[in-house]
Amino acid sequence: MNLPANLPSNVFLAPMAGITDRPMRQIVNKKSNGYVALVSEMVAINALSRKNPKTYRIADVREEKYPVIVQLVGSNPALFADAAQLAQELGAAGIDINMGCPVRKITAGGAGSALMKNMTLASEIIRTVVNAVSLKVSVKFRKGWDADSVNAADFAKMCEDNGAAFITVHGRTRAQGYSGTADWKIIADVKNAVRIPVIGNGDVNSPESAKKMIAETGVDGVMIGRAALGSPWLPGQIDAALHGRELLGLAPGEIRQTLLEHIDLLKNYYGEKLAVALSRKYVCWYSKNFYDAKRFRENYMKISDYQEALTAIENYFNQNEGRTE
Ligand SMILES: Cc1cc2nc3c(=O)[nH]c(=O)nc-3n(C[C@H](O)[C@H](O)[C@H](O)COP(=O)(O)O)c2cc1C
Repeated sequence: MNLPANLPSNVFLAPMAGITDRPMRQIVNKKSNGYVALVSEMVAINALSRKNPKTYRIADVREEKYPVIVQLVGSNPALFADAAQLAQELGAAGIDINMGCPVRKITAGGAGSALMKNMTLASEIIRTVVNAVSLKVSVKFRKGWDADSVNAADFAKMCEDNGAAFITVHGRTRAQGYSGTADWKIIADVKNAVRIPVIGNGDVNSPESAKKMIAETGVDGVMIGRAALGSPWLPGQIDAALHGRELLGLAPGEIRQTLLEHIDLLKNYYGEKLAVALSRKYVCWYSKNFYDAKRFRENYMKISDYQEALTAIENYFNQNEGRTE
């Protein structure tokens, strides 16, 4: 089976709460010339079916000109059906079910990676969502709950049997969180267990590592998370490398220009005040390894005025972009 035809690539930007919002998706889409598959931040089904305004806005992707898969998280099948239908009305190009989130607040309610310990409920959720929408439904999960309960291959089979169109597996257990290295061997086991497409996730941070993961595991595509923080061009570069298109390096000043564009998109979406607050983490990521970055960041954290923030970035990046520590 192939990946859904409405996806532009087998290279995915990973869903990241607080990160892969509309501004981030716009930047990654632009930098890849539209060649990266995009997933929303996770959306809580309880809040979405109550039409909580903030959650509703996160799920509403109608204004975006490229396909966005909306990821849902929760544990109640009936609410999942409601939320998936609403996400479909709000423009989702596909529904992804989060069965991998390790955060205690999520797992305590039986959602996210806790569903890896409850295959009966997990299968009911997948079936219910598949029946509730006309969109393709995918599932994202982990290696297992902990080292003593590694069950990703069985879990993958369960997803396939209940109608998932494709799956994504992150090669770490819930107990590992985001630490240590991802186990790509388990990703190969998952690939061998099913016929639906498998997307591999965990520690892909360059075109070379993406090619290596595909060669070692046989996966049908890759998903990139943390390596895209401050490098929104990376998923597009990986897509280009995998598909034999010319790889363009960064032009002089492109990091500064991209950061300023990102902040402008944050302003358009969240307003100036919140854009400045949110820009702080992006400024740190975009200036990774730059000369004297520590001092610049310390000063930047004190800025709350939008124009002042832009000027500080102009000044620092003009002098230091490309100058490493
Ligand atoms: C800040 C942050 C937020 C995340 N939020 C989500 C999320 O909302 N849904 C999800 O399925 N995974 C989430 N993840 C996990 C990533 O999608 C991905 O599985 C993980 O980072 C491993 O990939 P990487 O090694 O490429 O970063 C998050 C990860 C990070 C670092």
